[in-house]
Amino acid sequence: MDRKRVAILISGRGSNMTALIGAAKADDYPATIALVVSNRPDAAGLARARAEGIRTAVVDHAAFGEDRHAFERALDGELEAQHIEIICLAGFMRLLTPWFVDRWRGRLLNIHPSLLPQFKGLHTHRRALAAGVREHGATVHFVVPEMDAGPIVAQDTVPVRDGDTESTLAARVLEVEHRLYPRALRAVAEGRAHS
Ligand code: GRF
Repeated sequence: MDRKRVAILISGRGSNMTALIGAAKADDYPATIALVVSNRPDAAGLARARAEGIRTAVVDHAAFGEDRHAFERALDGELEAQHIEIICLAGFMRLLTPWFVDRWRGRLLNIHPSLLPQFKGLHTHRRALAAGVREHGATVHFVVPEMDAGPIVAQDTVPVRDGDTESTLAARVLEVEHRLYPRALRAVAEGRAHS
């Protein structure tokens, strides 16, 4: 099987990254996790990736100051060096410029903890509770220059329960995310989902 070479971009704990690494261990999975890149040297996910024997790189945005393009060129260099074909953003907390997004268009995925187009941006669980919705969830979508927009690959829902707090709701959504992202990446890697 010709597995797609995937890079996962993280900034933090990397639980979605871990779920993708786990899924890619299956013999019939159509993607291999060839690289994990963090923009933060202290991201907890880096140690986890290394423990799984996955190649890691740090491209520290702070080292590039205000120069977003220089940061993205460095990032792109790491990706090209590993012949990456698909990128999964997984808790990657930098906005990417149209230059980068266009370069990777159709090959760049993100997971967002809401049922897009509802609750774009941050604090999605808090805002879902404040809005009083009864159903919440997560979305994997192709990235376009506009934040948290772009063609949807897959979504899954969770109920909002009476008495939920931001953290109980976040935990319920996260469980769903860990199943959703591997499923969505499979669809993209098999050519069953296009932007
Ligand atoms: C997840 O909720 C994801 O949807 C959002 O950021 C969080 C990252 O968590 N984009 P983790 O680093 O994968 O644990």
